[in-house]
Amino acid sequence: MKTERIIVDPDAPDPRAIARCAEVLLRGGLVAFATETVYGLGALADDERAARSIFAAKGRPSHNPLISHLADTAAARALAPVWSAEADALAAAFWPGPLTIVVPKAPSIAPVVCAGLEAMSLRVPAHTVAQALLRAVGRPVAAPSANRSNQLSPTTADHVLQQLDGRIDVVLDAGPCSVGLESTVIDLCSSPPTLLRPGRITADELSRVVGPVAARSAVVAHGVARASPGLDAKHYAPYARLEVLSWPELRARLSAVTTKTGVVTVGDRGVSPSESLVVRALSSDPAEYGAALYEALHALDDRGCQWILCERVPDGGAWDAARDRLSRASAK
Ligand code: TXA
Ligand code: MG
Repeated sequence: MKTERIIVDPDAPDPRAIARCAEVLLRGGLVAFATETVYGLGALADDERAARSIFAAKGRPSHNPLISHLADTAAARALAPVWSAEADALAAAFWPGPLTIVVPKAPSIAPVVCAGLEAMSLRVPAHTVAQALLRAVGRPVAAPSANRSNQLSPTTADHVLQQLDGRIDVVLDAGPCSVGLESTVIDLCSSPPTLLRPGRITADELSRVVGPVAARSAVVAHGVARASPGLDAKHYAPYARLEVLSWPELRARLSAVTTKTGVVTVGDRGVSPSESLVVRALSSDPAEYGAALYEALHALDDRGCQWILCERVPDGGAWDAARDRLSRASAK
């Protein structure tokens, strides 16, 4: 299959380009599109055959469920058989935006999308292009991150094409994603709700809306977590071997570097690039850091780094998402 790249203005996409992509989706095809978090690989969520092709294109194991994307909260309310006051409060506070809510499954969502679970996950993205596409389609669109399974999520159309060129119909190129890390995932099928994946919207922000939120690890420790198999430790990894170190540890390692090595710091630590060192000094602001992290890891992979030495991010909820992704990327 030849993958078509359609470039649009991220703030004012050409309606003809959107209509063309909607048409591809409605006939069961695969369209990668920008959201504010990362690029998603879309297919109809209420069409078993279309949704199945996502798993084939990504090489994704069928036990890992997909998020269904909708244009607005009204569509979520209409779809969900159970839409609680908590779901409504979260939607009012954070949709459209980088939050995914797990609720009881709707009969119309293809079982393969939910990996056979009795729960489905819903998100209303804020990105103008995603919004336009979802409105044009008018049906739920399943979209995992548009990468090959277990690889880094894409934050640009180039990242998508590096991994999926020839395996999908279209990439709708709207430039780089602004959040840069995948959405926060909260499970409302448990009591209290469980944070399945940290993201830009923090646990504190969620708690302010729905009261106490259990951390996934705490729940797992008590043996009552529902399955969310996509949250295996090893995930979101670059090709290079990644290690997370404190700044003093990292600094001590620099002089011993022999093979080509990437260095990622929090703020500018004044590391000088050399023949063997490729340096990415990211922001010490957590939102800016999150927006730049995957781009930096992709770039270090592209430069042929065998190792990536990554400075540990600070404590605190605003850094939870980045800390989580780095710990997965460094898992052996
Ligand atoms: O930001 C994002 O969430 C992006 C954009 C495209 O929306 N999507 C994304 O999808 O990151 P994916 O498939 O890469 O990650 C979805 C995560 C997986 O870890 C999956 O296990 C979990 O959400 N998940 C999806 N449906 C679930 C369900 N019904 N129950 C529990 N966990 C679920
Ligand atoms: Mg993913």
